[in-house]
Amino acid sequence: MAIENILVIGAGTMGRQIAMSCALGGYATVLQDISEPALAAARTELESWAASRVAKGKLSQDAVDQALGLLSQTADLDAAARDADLVIEAAVERLDIKEEIFARLGKITAAHAILATNSSTLPSSKVAAASGRPAQVCNMHFFNPALVMKCVEIVRNDQTSDATVAAVTEVAQRLNKQPVLVNKEIPGFIANRMMGAINREALNLAQAGIASIVDIDTTARTALGHPMGPFELMDMVGLDVVDFIAQANYAETGNDADLPHPLIVEKVKEGKLGRKSGEGFYPYN
Ligand code: 3HC
Repeated sequence: MAIENILVIGAGTMGRQIAMSCALGGYATVLQDISEPALAAARTELESWAASRVAKGKLSQDAVDQALGLLSQTADLDAAARDADLVIEAAVERLDIKEEIFARLGKITAAHAILATNSSTLPSSKVAAASGRPAQVCNMHFFNPALVMKCVEIVRNDQTSDATVAAVTEVAQRLNKQPVLVNKEIPGFIANRMMGAINREALNLAQAGIASIVDIDTTARTALGHPMGPFELMDMVGLDVVDFIAQANYAETGNDADLPHPLIVEKVKEGKLGRKSGEGFYPYN
């Protein structure tokens, strides 16, 4: 069954850029969110991003017009789900909400539809049963900013079929992304596990007063060739998200190394969540 229509649930930072990536890949894409203001904000941001791509000569006006024409938005999940061949859920990271969404999707989408979650902390096995079609459920984990980052982790659960893996791999390729397959569910998958290890070391170095966060970030950029230092990256991802990922990983592994780092806990307590709150490890205007 060829995938032609994609539904993306959740118009937040990730969902809106995933939806635009799908539209740029030539898929008829519906972005759904229960919040009309979130949908409107997403549309405004994507149109302005598209205009800047044209101004920079990175995309043609035709390509942008075509993508924006393929991208629609609605608050009505039932209507949005009717024609979907693939659903990518990028709603809030709460198991109860995701279970509810997957149970509903199991009823309102066509029987052939594949149901993927963009979650970085909840493996799809947690919502597979609720959907009633576990063989057609997996994680499709995109990275922030999703319009730029190439990697998509495709994580299969015990029941995910080969046909499902093949179909979502093909979609990721058509989005001009680089799919990687995670064969076994593990907290943090591949990328967040590696990022967690780097962040932990960086936080420990700073806490012990070995070097300033500026110098640690500078080292990551100029010695290791990372595009951003770990503190810059944590500020971009959101310190509440970093904290949540650590808590979720610790709940699964019980490994003390996965516990949220005290420096992160302190920042979150102070409401310093990174770029989105105006201050994290660095101040932002
Ligand atoms: N949305 C869309 N496009 C963006 C963007 C955004 N938020 N931020 C930057 N870009 C685009 C710019 O338009 C520019 O495009 P162009 O070169 O084609 O004109 C390009 O990205 C480079 O941007 P800049 O020149 O402004 O800045 P940088 O060269 O520093 O790149 C970056 C910015 C792409 C964010 C780069 O620093 C980077 O790759 N950082 C690491 C990001 C990363 O590690 N992401 C993963 C986070 S972990 C995660 O998402 C998992 C989750 O589960 C928590």
